[in-house]
Amino acid sequence: MRKVVLILFSCLAAMLVFSYKNYKREIIPLKDIFKDKFYIGVALNTRKIWGRDTAALQIVNTHFNSVVAENCMKINALQPREGHFQFREADKFVDFGLRNNMFIIGHNLVWHSQAPDWFFKDHNGEEVSREVLIERMKKHITTVVSRYKGRVNGWDVVNEAVLDDGSWRKSKFYSIIGEDFIRLAFEFAHAADPMAELYYNDFSMAREGKRQGVVKMLRKLKAGGVKVTGVGMQGHLSLDYPKIADFEKSILAFSAEGVNVMITELDITVLPTPRRNMGADVNQNYAYKKEINPYTDGLPENVTKQLAQRYIDFFRLFLKHEDKISRVTLWGVTDADSWLNNWPVFGRKDYPLLFDRQYKAKPFVQMISQIPAKE
Ligand code: XIL
Repeated sequence: MRKVVLILFSCLAAMLVFSYKNYKREIIPLKDIFKDKFYIGVALNTRKIWGRDTAALQIVNTHFNSVVAENCMKINALQPREGHFQFREADKFVDFGLRNNMFIIGHNLVWHSQAPDWFFKDHNGEEVSREVLIERMKKHITTVVSRYKGRVNGWDVVNEAVLDDGSWRKSKFYSIIGEDFIRLAFEFAHAADPMAELYYNDFSMAREGKRQGVVKMLRKLKAGGVKVTGVGMQGHLSLDYPKIADFEKSILAFSAEGVNVMITELDITVLPTPRRNMGADVNQNYAYKKEINPYTDGLPENVTKQLAQRYIDFFRLFLKHEDKISRVTLWGVTDADSWLNNWPVFGRKDYPLLFDRQYKAKPFVQMISQIPAKE
């Protein structure tokens, strides 16, 4: 009898030690690990902003000290019709950030995508003049930035204005106003909240052409006395693209222009991409095929390893340049949240984030937290 009790007791003790270890693994707060280095941020979708995903919110509060709204601060969400501003969700988002002591990012003020048609058209459906578009941009930026003055800490003022080859994206903002729309957007934002940090944000920033285009833009803005606090390098990465060395060149190049560098929108797709270096152009979509959705039943061991290594390599790079990097933001909490399940192909199953569909930190998160600060 005593033997049985002893065996049972040992089993119980072993189980307790095991679950404590696991518990420990879950609760290493990333924000403590990266404290004094950079903010570690995360994008919040509608479900989280409205408090309907409590398990994810717990992760957000444990691990992150910065938040950005995935969609609810884009022009189509805030001003779907001219003059009809809708702030309900954005207000909720900002309240969440303030309540939880987060560094709050507004995303975004000027972007060709998720901008409603009316923005560029008059009442007869004709394209508006330069003056009208500038006025609309001014009204939108001024209304939004003033509302959150002193509460939103930094704004993605202009998103994705430069193409991969360094030339200007031929967006409506560009074709109607000219490249001046960038300067104007920064000036309007600065006037509305002089204390807010102001950023330029773009994808495929590791590409030579884009790097040079963005550097040229920064120089022009600086020469014109325009305040730009930082550059956001959207981190929509894949397992084999881009090269770490190219990404590093861009961190160095932007930092040399005297701005903070931020890794925004970090996620690493493990799925086959329809073409090499997809970038993150939300308007490029491809048809679903079973062959390009290979991991519906879980991620094979070898791919899990590759993903882990890729995350570790990138975080090693971020830590190497922590003096230049002010924030690293993940584009979603768990794999279930990720926009990559639906872009560039709708209805796939991707595994791009730090937490899995069961809200568990992936094992490599532990490894990231053990990377020495300077190697
Ligand atoms: C994406 C969102 O994640 C999706 O939910 C939405 O349908 C499309 O936009 N670059 C950006 C982000 O700057 O705003 C985009 O977010 C992803 C690419």
